[in-house]
Amino acid sequence: MSEIGFYRDENDDLYVQGIKISSLAEKYGTPLFIYDAGLMRQSYDIFMDAINKVKGNIHYAVKANDALSIISYFAKLGCGADIVSIGEFEKCVAAGMSPQKIIFSGVGKDNNEIELALKNNVLQFNIESEEELNDISKIASRLKLTANICLRVNPDIAPKTHKKISTGEKETKFGIDFQNVVSIYEKLHQLDYINPVGLGVHIGSQIFDFNFFYRAYFNLKKLADDLKLRGYKVPALDLGGGIGIHYSKNLKPDFSNYKKIVLDLFEKSDYQLSFEPGRSLIAEAGVLITKVIRNKKTKDKHFIIVDAAMNNLIRPTLYDAYHKIEPIKKTSKSEIIADIVGPICETGDFLALDRKINKVNSSDLLAIRTTGAYASVMKSNYNARKDAIEVMVYNEKDFRIKKSETIKDMIAKEEIIIFD
Ligand code: LLP
Repeated sequence: MSEIGFYRDENDDLYVQGIKISSLAEKYGTPLFIYDAGLMRQSYDIFMDAINKVKGNIHYAVKANDALSIISYFAKLGCGADIVSIGEFEKCVAAGMSPQKIIFSGVGKDNNEIELALKNNVLQFNIESEEELNDISKIASRLKLTANICLRVNPDIAPKTHKKISTGEKETKFGIDFQNVVSIYEKLHQLDYINPVGLGVHIGSQIFDFNFFYRAYFNLKKLADDLKLRGYKVPALDLGGGIGIHYSKNLKPDFSNYKKIVLDLFEKSDYQLSFEPGRSLIAEAGVLITKVIRNKKTKDKHFIIVDAAMNNLIRPTLYDAYHKIEPIKKTSKSEIIADIVGPICETGDFLALDRKINKVNSSDLLAIRTTGAYASVMKSNYNARKDAIEVMVYNEKDFRIKKSETIKDMIAKEEIIIFD
């Protein structure tokens, strides 16, 4: 049995589960995403260990990576899903997940999506406004189908993460203001075809200071306890996702601290808890392999131009995110400082800026690490570029899980007007 995760052999070649990464790049081409099912399983097991003393279920946040094989593997391990569109719902069902394990979140579910989710017996709707409740109630009454409703609370907490992925402050579009929760929860009990199931929070993503989780969960529990004292039923709490992962250091997410918080607050309570981790389950399990097109040197800078670009990994330019980048085989010992950039015609098309890296030559392969989450799902076809092929390594065998769309496929989607 080989090591779990990506590792180097004595010749400094990068491997996963006994398979040379360079051989996968040769077999499938680049840019190429490779996912290690071993690391997925490891993250799942560690997360489960953090919550196994409370009544908790994992609902994998499919938005992090919605490849069918990835959803299917997490489903096989026992996860449900957290989704934010009917497209994600259909992907989950196609991957073999039961609708009864799917939580429908999201601030802008449209009426068609609500109707389809209801007809398909989704587990619950996490709703974000009274207006949304009114729409769901109308649709549920017309269909004579009961909707399970959880209120997503906005706890007005700023969890010190990048502002584009911070969702817990009252200025954001997310959740229901704390002071309105009681009246809306009361209303749930008055409407036909509405079944109140509880409260939820999700304060943001890539959170390292767990005091923010503590505060959010503490306040949520207090609110739920208070509703119960008033005689309302609050069987479940949804604690969202957001655990930070280390992109630059080789460290696991701080699940043990998370476990402490969860046990501290909930070990003695009987709330049914759901957790919605995305990044912490899948980010580390993915690498993006790219080939060096050429080096370009100017008076001031060294650029390494590669065949992956912001259309494959937008995180560096969108969130100033750091992803470790390393040659698959270090052919030179000397190091340079370079911008690692894609071929897209935008200054913002970079994967790393001013990065120290071993010298590389045309055709060398680089691994962009920790790209299992929010990478391939955020792809585009900008500059008429194809998306990357995706491969999963499971039980020491590689499987292609996604083909790259061809330029022909892209052209076939369009129609040309006949101009006369
Ligand atoms: N639940 C809800 C309601 C969410 O909105 C999210 C993420 C999650 C769970 C999962 O959070 P996680 O455990 O993955 O942090 N594209 C950005 C991240 C956006 C996160 C959106 N919501 C990035 O690349 O950093």
